[in-house]
Amino acid sequence: MTRFIDELRRTHMCGELREEHIGHEVVLFGWVQNRRDHGGCVFIDLRDREGLVQVMFDPSAAQEAFDLANVMRLEWVVGIRGKVRDRGEMRNPRLATGAVEIVVLEATVFNRSETPPFQIEDNTDTNETKRLEYRYLDLRRNKLQRTITARSDLYKATRDYFFEHGFREIETPFLIRNTPGGARNFLVPCRLNPGTFYALAESPQLYKQLLMVSGFDRYFQIVRCFRDEDLRLDRQPEFTQIDVEMSFINQDALFAIIEGLLFRIFREVARIDLLELYPDGRFPRMRFEESMRRFGNDKPDLRFALEHTDLTSLAVEHDGGGIPLFKAITDIFKNGRYRLDLPKEIVKALLIPSSANLSRTEGDKLEKFARSMGSEGLARAKVGEGGVWTQSPFAKNITPEFREAVNQATNARPGDILCFQFGKEAKVNTVMANLRLHLGKILGYIPEIGHEDQWRFLWIVDPPLFEYSEEEGRYVAAHHAFTRPHDDCVELLDKDPGKVLCHRYDLVLNGFEIGGGSIRLHDPEVQAKVFKALNISDEEAQSKFGFLLKALRLGAPPHGGIALGLDRLTMLVSGSESIRDVIAFPKTQQGNELMTGSPDFASPGQLLELKISSLA
Ligand code: AMO
Repeated sequence: MTRFIDELRRTHMCGELREEHIGHEVVLFGWVQNRRDHGGCVFIDLRDREGLVQVMFDPSAAQEAFDLANVMRLEWVVGIRGKVRDRGEMRNPRLATGAVEIVVLEATVFNRSETPPFQIEDNTDTNETKRLEYRYLDLRRNKLQRTITARSDLYKATRDYFFEHGFREIETPFLIRNTPGGARNFLVPCRLNPGTFYALAESPQLYKQLLMVSGFDRYFQIVRCFRDEDLRLDRQPEFTQIDVEMSFINQDALFAIIEGLLFRIFREVARIDLLELYPDGRFPRMRFEESMRRFGNDKPDLRFALEHTDLTSLAVEHDGGGIPLFKAITDIFKNGRYRLDLPKEIVKALLIPSSANLSRTEGDKLEKFARSMGSEGLARAKVGEGGVWTQSPFAKNITPEFREAVNQATNARPGDILCFQFGKEAKVNTVMANLRLHLGKILGYIPEIGHEDQWRFLWIVDPPLFEYSEEEGRYVAAHHAFTRPHDDCVELLDKDPGKVLCHRYDLVLNGFEIGGGSIRLHDPEVQAKVFKALNISDEEAQSKFGFLLKALRLGAPPHGGIALGLDRLTMLVSGSESIRDVIAFPKTQQGNELMTGSPDFASPGQLLELKISSLA
């Protein structure tokens, strides 16, 4: 066995052998993917991280090796020395190494394997729970080897890019002070100071701003972040950010740096030239307000249309007509409301084109879907000849003028179906945004991977600085309290805070938010106004952010930054469906790591040491 490692040494990886290696003697190591007996010879497919190659054990070439091959089983770890030869007519065009095979001259078994709980193959039907329990086996699959490799390539492209652009990579602490606001933190008890807790950093936000105050000018870090959130397909409790902060820049300059990074990542990781899609090297931008209006959310998937039409002002304009329309709708919902409660409520329509050929039953299914999103229903109308509405509860109630105006606004043609939603703005938007996505999927509007329209980037810009919290009855920061308002909005801070726009931005790719950041507020005077608008007292500001406020008064340069979600980005670049496919050891939706069985209970002794007396 040691002969193979000490004397022979590996010459190639299994997956890299090609025609040009014919005639070479090679030494390969790997796992037995499968084994076949063929008329006196044994064939195995030998697998390593680069792929598979066919290996033949012929007793006339090497009897000892042949005897060994007879006992080899799936997932045994073996080494072979042999000669590469042409497979001639027997070539396998589906395999990268399919032109060649290895005739074995000598073999060894490094280790046997018990029968694995599932076979290592690309298209597995083994459920994910089992695969996560044996994650190290699951990771042997070619698909995961590829995504984890893509992730590694992405680190390299990122680091190369930032170093070439004058950035410093600086680590910031994970164990930090617990500062309320933002995502919920994981807490870590501090044994040395009984009763106190660190928080695990949800992001390096405050530290990277302090690094600007320190004069580092351009910072980046590929950094783990921890958030105790409810998990979804694109969320993990620990995830990785490409975190960036820069001094003396504006939004445009920062966008250019990040666009450059993404062009580089796509080129080096996925071999995709984004210049073909974005010839000027820039991604399009859309104002937050426009995105909400046209798509119902701030991360629109631009790979298909199905835009919303806001009918609120039309309904107001056709008040006489508006009432019958809403009367009809409210009659269906029986909540007895006739008028929109302006400005909190809105009406939106979404047009399903006739080409979708949606049946009535399918329409009913859509209504069910809308209800599952918390809506009370999904009023619909089929547009007939001359623009009349049929198959609709309010076909008769609506005035011809209002109907015509709606047809025009939505560009409706005979055969199209209009879906309506009205009520609280946030709810209408959520329901309609989800409906749009759902329709995009079921109608097959989302292009296949590899299609030229596949990558649709978008910057969402100029959102409001504050959002009104019904719960708290006051304005709260929509992002974080250190985001810079637009200069021409500063005077609205005390007059009409809801109208203040700010230099905050999100980067969206195919409907996923892959990054977000802002130009920061470094001016103490405007900062004080923002706190006032947020109803944060001086004492509260001092106790929460005292150290940052102090730093901002000690020579803070203008600065701004962004963080990209590395896991989400890798998921998209590698064409994976779940964020779990790009994380070597991910957690389930319930936050468990099934392989090692974490989280687990702490022993009474551990709790005692931490002076934690009992669990509720
Ligand atoms: P934000 O909270 O928007 O910004 O996070 C930046 C990006 O990180 C990704 N992300 C996640 N990915 C996986 N699982 C999660 N639980 C998760 N949460 C967020 C998203 C998101 O766009 N400090 C600011 C950045 C800044 O202002 O510079 C921040 O953390 O892709």
